[in-house]
Amino acid sequence: MTRLDLDLMAELASRRWQAIDPLLPAASGWALGCGAQLAVGGPDRGLAAAGSCGHWTAESGSLDLIEGAAQRFRLTPYITGPDVLAALDTLLSRWRDHLATVPEAAGEDTAAVICWPSRDVAGVRALVAHGLAPLGVIAARSASRRPAVVADCPPGVRIRRATPGDLDVAVRMAMEVVRFDAYFGGVIERPGYAEALRAELARLLGEPDSWTWLAERDGDPVGLLIAERPEAAGWIAPRTCESPVAYLLALYVVPAEREAGVGAALTGQLHRTAALAKVSVILLQYEQVNPLAVPFWGCQGYRPLWSTWEARPARMLR
Ligand SMILES: CC(C)(COP(=O)(O)OP(=O)(O)OC[C@H]1O[C@@H](n2cnc3c(N)ncnc32)[C@H](O)[C@@H]1OP(=O)(O)O)[C@@H](O)C(=O)NCCC(=O)NCCS
Repeated sequence: MTRLDLDLMAELASRRWQAIDPLLPAASGWALGCGAQLAVGGPDRGLAAAGSCGHWTAESGSLDLIEGAAQRFRLTPYITGPDVLAALDTLLSRWRDHLATVPEAAGEDTAAVICWPSRDVAGVRALVAHGLAPLGVIAARSASRRPAVVADCPPGVRIRRATPGDLDVAVRMAMEVVRFDAYFGGVIERPGYAEALRAELARLLGEPDSWTWLAERDGDPVGLLIAERPEAAGWIAPRTCESPVAYLLALYVVPAEREAGVGAALTGQLHRTAALAKVSVILLQYEQVNPLAVPFWGCQGYRPLWSTWEARPARMLR
């Protein structure tokens, strides 16, 4: 296949996805990978599917390390054939056979990862059949669909912008989110993570008018929301066709204050600020089985856009 064929394949596949979910992005061309030939023939000697496999290793001490395995093998699938289930099934078999030839994929701290549009339900049975588990969700809240609403704080609670002086409490609460998410298998708390997080939060809090807010009761912190403005959210913006994109990095409410409206009030604060900044869509990530996050984000107007399916370690891909 020539590079032109591959780019065309990517474009056709992305058109199919955009017809399923209008928030999905247009193709940005074929994703460059390790070069393995992962192609599935279709009718009339055309292609029904093709895939690009990227090999990624986390740098030691990087924040990405908590989001999963230290070595990740990521398949970018392009499906054009009419029988999506059969095409994806064969593509996943080719990917499994490819990974079996990659010595590093046999390690323990590895994962085979595929990001699949949440609404492309036609392929899901193939993902399950190949031993992949749905761990994370990238969810979206489009400003055009849900105008920002003002959610009142519960009595006695006040929201204010966080400052560099709040670094300790911000790190403590952000670590609580990581620890809670670690129950669900997707997130892994790594040694040294708190230090890396501290450096990142110091940077965020040091920005003028950072999109980070604290909820306080009688001066005591009871909740925290951290978000990235569009200028900082470019890393995830290609996941949707809308722009500008903001990213909601973390939300935490102390257990004694939950289910009283603190989380909704903090989220409302971000929604109002984002609306003033003409943000078109806010993205965030949650764990597929986080029992607190799933109903909460649904109520706040977020819905699944991409689901991350993983086999851990990578050799568990069937
Ligand atoms: C998720 C979290 C921030 C929610 O904060 P909260 O202050 O409890 O949420 P709120 O009280 O503002 O809830 C707002 C709405 O969400 C819904 N909701 C919240 N928690 C819910 C739950 N456990 N079950 C069902 N609905 C729930 C309710 O509809 C509620 O509206 P209502 O007051 O009209 O009933 C909090 O549970 C938390 O800190 N969890 C641990 C960390 C975490 O999971 N963070 C998110 C990671 S992505």
